[in-house]
Amino acid sequence: MNNGLEDVVAAETILSDVRGAEGQLIIRGYPLVALAGRWTFEQTTHLLFTGFFDDLPDAAEFTAKLGTARVDVFEKTRGLLGPMSKLPAYDGMRAAMAMLSDGTALPDALRLLAAPAVLLPALIRLQAGDEPIEPSTSTGHAADVIRMLGRSDGAGALDTYLVTVSDHGLNASTFAARVVASTHAGLTSSVLAGLGALKGPLHGGAPGPVIDMLDAIAEEGDSAGWIERALDDGERLMGFGHRIYRTRDPRADALKAALRSFGDADARLRFAEGVEQAALEALHRRKPDRVLETNVEFYTALLLEAVGFPKHVFTGVFAMGRIAGWLAHAREQALTGRLIRPASRYVEPVTKDAA
Ligand code: COA
Repeated sequence: MNNGLEDVVAAETILSDVRGAEGQLIIRGYPLVALAGRWTFEQTTHLLFTGFFDDLPDAAEFTAKLGTARVDVFEKTRGLLGPMSKLPAYDGMRAAMAMLSDGTALPDALRLLAAPAVLLPALIRLQAGDEPIEPSTSTGHAADVIRMLGRSDGAGALDTYLVTVSDHGLNASTFAARVVASTHAGLTSSVLAGLGALKGPLHGGAPGPVIDMLDAIAEEGDSAGWIERALDDGERLMGFGHRIYRTRDPRADALKAALRSFGDADARLRFAEGVEQAALEALHRRKPDRVLETNVEFYTALLLEAVGFPKHVFTGVFAMGRIAGWLAHAREQALTGRLIRPASRYVEPVTKDAA
């Protein structure tokens, strides 16, 4: 028995549905393509939160409250940033988030939602020897992240990214968050479980290696040759294939469209499209019976690189978006689910005598 719970239904949810055969992601009734590039991250999170928090205001007021929460998080964690910047950025962010109150009300959720957006830019700047930039209440969430990085371009592309990764069914980190929420622990505890699961290379750690692959191909200058050699050596091409999607990952197209609107990335995008075509041609030729298409991580890597994030923080930016889903799922589990307590099968004989 080693199926990784594949096809096991472990929760009923109104939040999102990953339709692998059709290549569709549905978020609370909306196909992703209807939201990405049209709705802000705040509007999407408001949609995910609806029905799960008392006193949820309308989307405009929710957006304003998230701005106030960014300032609040900065004030609360300011004294921790120096010591936390000695850790890898993801670990420093997680350690600072562990200091936030572990409640289940809307203000707790807003602080947690704000935290990665505030902490990651601050830690990136400190690690580069620059002072953190304080959050502002007068811009949208994604635009404020760009501002706190000390940059001016890419807010629209980052907003599309955050919406695109905000929720994705019962993935490993969302399941981890729901397990903790099922014990009626607080939202910080659930989010910390999600952060732990997301960190692994089989989940949120994939986009960094896409950049490594693109850089190696750029240096060699021969996409087809590099790809053939990698596949001959039994390697997997990063950013291709998926456990559930049996057609193109709809998130890849949403991110590619966002990248196109972000002019600076033009030459890199054209180069990456060439690599993508060469990779798909080789994968289709070598595995004609297996659907191997571009997944979300290929264009995630390009988009986050264009926005100006160093590749070692890509997983932290993923958390900045996915935390919306974790919080909504944690509330849904606590309000509508039971304690999650599966069984294990003991496979050793009872032979030992304690006497
Ligand atoms: N490059 C080359 N071959 C690949 C491949 C890739 N990216 N993805 C799958 N394959 C091949 C496997 O080698 C396997 O071949 P085999 O049957 O000859 O052994 C076959 O396709 C099926 O692989 P399997 O592991 O069963 O696919 P999966 O659907 O369970 O795995 C992933 C999904 C995502 C783990 C896998 O596609 C992968 O490792 N991709 C690269 C990493 C990545 O981009 N991760 C981010 C996912 S969003």
